[in-house]
Amino acid sequence: MVLAACDAEVNAADSHLSQAALIDKVTGKDGLLCLLTDDINDAILGASPQLKVVANVAVGYNNIDVQAATRRKIIVTNTPGVLDDTTADFTWCLLLASARRLAEAERYIREGKYTGWGIMLLCGEDIFGKTIGICGLGRIGRGVAKRARGFEMRILYTDAVRAPAEVEGEFGVQFVEKETLFREADFVTLHIPLLPETHHYVSVKELKLMKKTAHLINASRGPVVDEKALVQALRERWIAGAGLDVYEQEPLMAAGLTELDNVTLAPHIASASVETRMKMAVMAATNLVEALQGRRPPNIVNPEVLA
Ligand code: GLV
Repeated sequence: MVLAACDAEVNAADSHLSQAALIDKVTGKDGLLCLLTDDINDAILGASPQLKVVANVAVGYNNIDVQAATRRKIIVTNTPGVLDDTTADFTWCLLLASARRLAEAERYIREGKYTGWGIMLLCGEDIFGKTIGICGLGRIGRGVAKRARGFEMRILYTDAVRAPAEVEGEFGVQFVEKETLFREADFVTLHIPLLPETHHYVSVKELKLMKKTAHLINASRGPVVDEKALVQALRERWIAGAGLDVYEQEPLMAAGLTELDNVTLAPHIASASVETRMKMAVMAATNLVEALQGRRPPNIVNPEVLA
């Protein structure tokens, strides 16, 4: 699609480009299609005076300095909607795996430790009928809530803005304050964007509020959780477990995290189904081409640049 609409230089190696390489590649270009691992800062945005659009292949766009882009009248786009169900599915993969100790059980077998059935072998926590706490009732949070109904769960949520009563009715969710959610939920799952005000949304205070049998699930953005505090909470059993898809400084992890048995770790793959990744790529390419051809792209995050 992109190649049919314009000349394009493609990073076919699928490798991460350094800041210097990105600046070099952007120089002289009108548009940039990038991944969430690309840190699109002001220096990169300024590398090409004719840069009109930065199309991110992700719904989250905390990797782009949107303020700087807006100041430079550069359109920024993302890929909302197409990954909601896939990400909600994966949230449940992490939740189920964490509650039932699936990753630990897998390792147990592969390490040759399975010598026979044991009545207390690898016992975890039940999921059905428990309380789930959803932080952020956006599209993905709602997808998680929909699935929770099948497990006959009590569904609590918290958010910066309370949802309308008909949404609460449709998804069977009950609004509570953040502290109540952390205190009462058996599973706390995070679906909030990374913003200055959500940095370390979960830290010592929240982890200490949680039940000892509770699990924390994060498939949003790593810095929403204070990873060092989480390692301490898992090590000292303030909580039973965690399922993580994202980390504070990907691909690095806080010291000690990978040594813990009560954490299920995934390498930022919540939206990684073949179907969804294709949809995200097509959506980002459409946004790029529409902007390059002077039309309003469907998923613009800074519409004020067109005002
Ligand atoms: C994935 O993490 C995304 O933001 O699309």
